[in-house]
Amino acid sequence: MHFIISFVLALAATTVVSMPSPKTRPEIAPTLHLIRSADGSHMLTRQADSSSQPSFSPNVAGAILNATAVTNVSASFTISPLSVFGDGNEADAFGVAIIVGIDALYCPNAGAMAGIESIVENGEASYSAFITAFPQGPVAVPGFNLSAGDNIAISITVTNATSATVVLTNESTNQTVTEVTPTGTLCMQEADWIIEDMESDGSLPPLADFSSVNFTDVSAATSSGPLDITGATIFNMEQNNTVLTSVSALPSEIDIVFV
Ligand SMILES: *[C@@H]1O[C@H](CO)[C@@H](O)[C@H](O)[C@H]1NC(C)=O
Ligand SMILES: *[C@@H]1O[C@H](CO)[C@@H](O)[C@H](O)[C@H]1NC(C)=O
Ligand SMILES: *[C@@H]1O[C@H](CO)[C@@H](O)[C@H](O)[C@H]1NC(C)=O
Ligand SMILES: *[C@@H]1O[C@H](CO)[C@@H](O)[C@H](O)[C@H]1NC(C)=O
Ligand SMILES: *[C@@H]1O[C@H](CO)[C@@H](O)[C@H](O)[C@H]1NC(C)=O
Ligand SMILES: *[C@@H]1O[C@H](CO)[C@@H](O)[C@H](O)[C@H]1NC(C)=O
Ligand SMILES: *[C@@H]1O[C@H](CO)[C@@H](O)[C@H](O)[C@H]1NC(C)=O
Ligand SMILES: *[C@@H]1O[C@H](CO)[C@@H](O)[C@H](O)[C@H]1NC(C)=O
Repeated sequence: MHFIISFVLALAATTVVSMPSPKTRPEIAPTLHLIRSADGSHMLTRQADSSSQPSFSPNVAGAILNATAVTNVSASFTISPLSVFGDGNEADAFGVAIIVGIDALYCPNAGAMAGIESIVENGEASYSAFITAFPQGPVAVPGFNLSAGDNIAISITVTNATSATVVLTNESTNQTVTEVTPTGTLCMQEADWIIEDMESDGSLPPLADFSSVNFTDVSAATSSGPLDITGATIFNMEQNNTVLTSVSALPSEIDIVFV
């Protein structure tokens, strides 16, 4: 019986599904929230001295490319296992979200993002896939059950100014989930490969030790062709005067290491 249930759900994961109204679907991880979706804005960042890079944020690390008319953003990564950071044992829940997006941070009324939420709750780690079509909050992707070690590819394509197509691929099997999701009016000005700490009851719990999240096969494009991502702005996460990440960017790879 258990086998049959698993098999049916596994089949569901390979099916192309179109997204029902986001409001009919549950938000995931009710105890933790992505900051961008909580109040519509990301936290302010501190610019490093006179140079433009790197910048620091209390809740975001990774690379953000400003451009115009961005239509495609994609990357692959491996889900790294989580462990407890510092005195994190005292927090009930903490985690990290791995996000590929278009307009994830700056566009005031829209954003199309997808990723993996990794959470440690009462000592137990769990991993789930989500799609955020801002101004809607994140919603879970049904039938896409994840484990540490899974290799996942995410691609986001602008369908039109108020709609994006998200494709999640399990690179071990090439099984895909495709969702077309309505958004606010996209700015198409930003490609994002980031991790984010998540809010709990209005405060930031400690960032989970994610070891490293390396985005590979990183690409972004406009309708007229690929964008050079080497000019992307690097963000490192800094909390309580401690820098928690070390980010390095190569032409098609962005590595985020927990330090
Ligand atoms: C996926 O996760 C859900 C919720 O935890 C569980 O009920 C279901 O059995 C899992 N499906 C598979 C295929 O493992
Ligand atoms: C990217 O665009 C945002 C929004 O316009 C702006 O605040 C930010 O300073 C830009 N970053 C760079 C490096 O130009
Ligand atoms: C990806 O494929 C691997 C190998 O078959 C499997 O163990 C894992 O559960 C799959 N993950 C998802 C999200 O489909
Ligand atoms: C944008 O694309 C979506 C999905 O294909 C479609 O439902 C919607 O009508 C389109 N909007 C416009 C303005 O064309
Ligand atoms: C998945 O697709 C890629 C690109 O088409 C291919 O190189 C790879 O061998 C495929 N992997 C599997 C497990 O089928
Ligand atoms: C920062 O330090 C304060 C005071 O020690 C603590 O309450 C808070 O949880 C810390 N924040 C993070 C994100 O570690
Ligand atoms: C962008 O995505 C569309 C739809 O998936 C695809 O047809 C197009 O080739 C992609 N463009 C680039 C430059 O990857
Ligand atoms: C990610 O890249 C860093 C170097 O930038 C490397 O030290 C680390 O081992 C890589 N992690 C994985 C999981 O490949």
